[in-house]
Amino acid sequence: MSDVSKIHSLNIPTNKNLDSFQQQLPDASDTVPVIDLSHPDAPKLMNNAFQTWGVFQLVNHGIPVSLLNSIQSFIQDLFDLPTSQKLKIVRSRESIAGFGLVPLSQVYPKRPWGEGFTLIGNPVDHLQKLWPEDCKKYCDLAEEYLKEMKNLCGKVMWLTLGELGITPEDINWAGSDGEFKTSNQALRMNSYPVCPEPDESIGLPPHSDSSVLTVLYQTTKGLQVLIEGKGWVTVEPVKDALVVQVGDMLHILTNGLYSPSVHQAVVNQTHDRMSTAFFFGTPKNTEVSPLKKLVTPTRPLMYPTVTWADYLSKKYELFEETLPSIRLSA
Ligand code: SIN
Ligand code: FE2
Repeated sequence: MSDVSKIHSLNIPTNKNLDSFQQQLPDASDTVPVIDLSHPDAPKLMNNAFQTWGVFQLVNHGIPVSLLNSIQSFIQDLFDLPTSQKLKIVRSRESIAGFGLVPLSQVYPKRPWGEGFTLIGNPVDHLQKLWPEDCKKYCDLAEEYLKEMKNLCGKVMWLTLGELGITPEDINWAGSDGEFKTSNQALRMNSYPVCPEPDESIGLPPHSDSSVLTVLYQTTKGLQVLIEGKGWVTVEPVKDALVVQVGDMLHILTNGLYSPSVHQAVVNQTHDRMSTAFFFGTPKNTEVSPLKKLVTPTRPLMYPTVTWADYLSKKYELFEETLPSIRLSA
């Protein structure tokens, strides 16, 4: 069996069976952990949160608040663009860059309510098409944000995995300096307008990210995570906090020790909402296997070796198999 066909049977991203979760309301203590990165216990707390929740909120993370505010204005400008301008860069089967729905939204039974824009590769290539006159300020901002987010992900990786005895020698794609120079990255900006029928609609359907880590910035509530025994838990916005989530590739890398964050974005009748997700991924064609130190007699190997490219194409194939043929031919 090829690696790809093995993935097919791995049952990611829905390795948490959504139907098996009790849809009960969490009690007051059931809130996603909020961790202060400057606290001496932060590595331990983050490592615990990744294992039990697959997600935490991070404060005192070192990303300038002014940068977070600027990225909010950026999204506002982006989604305020006239449709004629937005059509200059639209997501397609060949490239995920641009405006458009994620494939999952096209097969999920609720009405998709929101717009998304994905930035991947060199920001200039895409942003120039949207703002031919004054692209520089947006490009500089996107580059700065990508750089800061990548650094933060490197920090979180080593602090959390360090708790498990993992060092740069254990991860071939981290590089000998542990700086993840060859990692992949993408940004997705989301805008969810006020919705007259929130129960029949969804901002983003339940999914886990294919990334290693995802860092989400939100100022308005709408993100929910699915937690075993608790059901959907709202990630209440905490001022200037970043939501750090375990993606499928980190779940594989840790041989299933870290829980992938299954999440969704809900919409409401009173507030519009914007969010920015930074995806930190492995180099596209590098083989990723569960870390040897995390394969033990009590935790046998759970996943085969896989590249991110194969994993992604398999995931997309699964969605496309479900899409009505009319969409496939569009
Ligand atoms: C995402 O899953 O990419 C975004 C979720 C959100 O908008 O909170
Ligand atoms: Fe996501």
